[in-house]
Amino acid sequence: MKQILVTGATGNIGLEVVHYLNALNSDCEIIAAVRHVADAKQIFTDTVNLQFRQFDFENPETLSAAFHLVDVLFLLRPPQISEVDKFFRPLLVAAKANCIRNVVFLSVQGAEKSKVIPHNKIENLIQELEFNYIFVRSSYFMQNLTTTLLPEIVKDKRITLPSGKAKFNWIDVKNIGEATAYLIFNFAKYQNRSFEITGTENKNFAEVVKLMSEITGETISFQSINPISFYFKKRKEGMASGFAVVMTTLHFLPRFQKEPDISDHYQKLTGKKPTSIREFIAREKEKITASQQ
Ligand SMILES: NC(=O)c1ccc[n+]([C@@H]2O[C@H](COP(=O)([O-])OP(=O)(O)OC[C@H]3O[C@@H](n4cnc5c(N)ncnc54)[C@H](OP(=O)(O)O)[C@@H]3O)[C@@H](O)[C@H]2O)c1
Repeated sequence: MKQILVTGATGNIGLEVVHYLNALNSDCEIIAAVRHVADAKQIFTDTVNLQFRQFDFENPETLSAAFHLVDVLFLLRPPQISEVDKFFRPLLVAAKANCIRNVVFLSVQGAEKSKVIPHNKIENLIQELEFNYIFVRSSYFMQNLTTTLLPEIVKDKRITLPSGKAKFNWIDVKNIGEATAYLIFNFAKYQNRSFEITGTENKNFAEVVKLMSEITGETISFQSINPISFYFKKRKEGMASGFAVVMTTLHFLPRFQKEPDISDHYQKLTGKKPTSIREFIAREKEKITASQQ
């Protein structure tokens, strides 16, 4: 039976990849590669046909056992791990040594153009090591509104970012999980290609908070601040330095870039329309208005 190993299985993307692999699966073994097996089993109590293997990006001793007899490796970069040579090179060398040939990597839209981001280096490494690959280049997650940006939305009814009027392309993580599962199951057909997975809307934060206010009935505002103030604000709130840098650049650099491209890969792969921002906000309304309940 074909084995598919999913890293980051307990996170935003991994949960959806596992969900859709299960929903679409006929005869593959799906394995969640997780740091804490007992904790992960609690998260997936409703998921049938899921195996677990202990796996830690930061502990090379876990790699070989996790990679044993795997046919397709779904790889992502956890947000706190940026050192490609320190963590991803040994990981991919171990994958190769364990005869893994196929890698599906969750990357970001535009990774091929930005030499400084880790995703670009990981894509290059996967090619250098001659894996068969599929790169899933995703645009900006709608779920940022219900994860990293949520505390301020709930507490202050505000989003503060250094993004000015920059437009982001908004994609539902569920759509990425579904497209990725489809690509994994049809690996041979799509191998050695990159797929931008985007939604159909480019909107700036002022436009998004307007929609949020309309749908939730709460006045949610947007404040753009300069990147240095933003970085120190995040540090003061206790955010780790590396992540604060990522948050700052992710939201500041688009001010100097052209609007994101919109791709129809999701629609072509699944035959469905991606989630609209309006649908997402309506679906997640309870989370966004949590403080008033
Ligand atoms: N946010 C965006 O708009 C956006 C857009 C495009 C691409 N991306 C990319 O998406 C990726 C993040 O995906 P995500 O949002 O799904 O991340 P996430 O929700 O933060 O999940 C991270 C996952 O990695 C696991 N993990 C962390 N450290 C680990 C370690 N040392 N060993 C094993 N597992 C470990 C976590 O497991 P535990 O349960 O053990 O913590 C969790 O399952 C990043 O590479 C980011 O650049 C993000």
